[in-house]
Amino acid sequence: MEGNIVTSDNRKPTTTDAGIPVASDEHSLSVGPDGPIVMHDHYLIEQMANFNRERIPERQPHAKGSGAFGHFVVTEDVSRYTRAAVFQPGTRTDVAIRFSTVAGERGSPDTWRDPRGFSLKFYTSEGNYDMVGNNTPVFFIRDPMKFQHFIRSQKRRADNNLRDHDMQWDFWTLSPESAHQVTWLMGDRGIPKTWRHMNGYSSHTYMWANAQGEKFWVKYHFKTDQGIECLTQEEGDRLSSGDGDYHTRDLFDAIQRGDYPSWTLYMQVMPFEEAETYRLNPFDLTKVWPHEDYPLIKVGKLTLDRNPTDHHTEIEQLAFEPNNLVPGIGTSPDKMLIGRIFSYADAHRARLGVNYKQIPVNAPVAPVHSYSKDGAMRVQKVSDPVYAPNSKGGPAADGERYPTDSTWQTSGQMVRAPYTLRQDDDDFSQANDLINKVMDQSERDRLVSNVVGHLCGGVSEPVLERAFEYWRNIDATIGQRIEEGVRANKG
Ligand code: NDP
Ligand code: HEM
Repeated sequence: MEGNIVTSDNRKPTTTDAGIPVASDEHSLSVGPDGPIVMHDHYLIEQMANFNRERIPERQPHAKGSGAFGHFVVTEDVSRYTRAAVFQPGTRTDVAIRFSTVAGERGSPDTWRDPRGFSLKFYTSEGNYDMVGNNTPVFFIRDPMKFQHFIRSQKRRADNNLRDHDMQWDFWTLSPESAHQVTWLMGDRGIPKTWRHMNGYSSHTYMWANAQGEKFWVKYHFKTDQGIECLTQEEGDRLSSGDGDYHTRDLFDAIQRGDYPSWTLYMQVMPFEEAETYRLNPFDLTKVWPHEDYPLIKVGKLTLDRNPTDHHTEIEQLAFEPNNLVPGIGTSPDKMLIGRIFSYADAHRARLGVNYKQIPVNAPVAPVHSYSKDGAMRVQKVSDPVYAPNSKGGPAADGERYPTDSTWQTSGQMVRAPYTLRQDDDDFSQANDLINKVMDQSERDRLVSNVVGHLCGGVSEPVLERAFEYWRNIDATIGQRIEEGVRANKG
């Protein structure tokens, strides 16, 4: 039923948001052609009011990004490690993905040097499972107390609202646990060529539990099937000024032309008991598990084959939350992960409202039988009984079928303290491995050049001297080259 109005060229008639046909797209109602407009031109007012409310708050970190839809297919049998339905052999699950930069605002360039977000929502038969990772296997810090401060140091100053390299290096050099991630960031992979040409990692250690309740510690590695490709600092800078939406456009165009990007998921799996005696703290987010200790185990393939048709409803309002874990997948004692389990749903309530899970892109395909009720913008009906326990036939939790087994044992005095150090826990060795075992000479040269350029962009004493020491601690030669480069540049 399109109403009685048919426009002369057979287009759909414009209506108000209440579906009422309007008489003009161009002329406000006025007192005579030259007189004032009238307040009861409701359509004009609706257009103005709606426009004034179009913007919602941007995400605090990771504001600039875009995404797509696709599916994940399990090609191998990893049922001995997890009973999660989404990872059972042959299972195909629809997914949503969002890629992002961290520090920039919603309109900032895609090709700034920054980690990239790699957020996945699996619409599984057992509810939504979110894997909210980055394109790096590690992170800058290991305690959530520092996260807010870290992000502020990467964003803008209070006085002039400018980004400030001095502030960034001040934080990093006072936080030596950042060395591994900063080395990564300043290397080639700090500016991926496109989102299609980078890997995605859970970074955190999670738990998997199988049907027998046996537990394993795991890390996710989504390896790009397109191959890794990166941009140099110069290429990134050129695109930042010439095409700020380069990565957004690349993904959209690739999917539109049927060139569907894919990633192969591999896991690192650590038997539960080994965590206690492993030479590194396996829950420290600033460390990887070397592959020779825990080799990659193939799981399946992620393919993206559908673009959004409305960025706002499908991507801007997408709400990822590391707390969305399905039966067979659990958390770990990583303090950062535990902090994130609180933070994201809180951010969504602030950004999108308490009923954000009813926005279609966030709604599970699995049926919802929760006892949540009312609140702003609730559109799904609830029915009695509205409380539990009840004897009125309402939903009842099934602890036998869904046991709380993805957990671990802990005890101790409450303290505020860093993790207990193990034999090989230090802040610099893995950064050094990255430089000397993984990078080749030309990448090491670009690393030095990238750091020198960054430090020459407004870093002053005493932060500068600390930055030289930071790099000398990672690698004496690289530290010396960086210091020489900066001193030469500053004359
Ligand atoms: P391996 O040689 O087994 O693995 C090295 C890893 O580094 C590969 O996964 C490779 O990923 C990745 N890599 C290759 N080139 C670069 C680069 N220029 N910048 C960043 N990463 C790169 O060694 P280890 O497992 O012993 O790890 C050594 C170092 O490699 C670590 O300290 C860490 O910095 C880095 N690394 C380790 C990972 C892990 O989970 N163990 C994961 C990624 C990096 P790809 O196959 O995609 O090229
Ligand atoms: C976004 C908090 C660490 C990856 C966000 C958001 C918050 C947040 C509040 C905005 C959410 C929104 O408004 O939608 C935190 C806290 C952390 C932390 C408190 C540590 C204590 C990490 C780590 C990773 C990560 C370690 C990666 C391994 C992401 C990604 C997004 C994001 C990818 C964007 C999600 C999207 O695409 O919508 N984070 N974060 N964060 N964070 Fe974190």
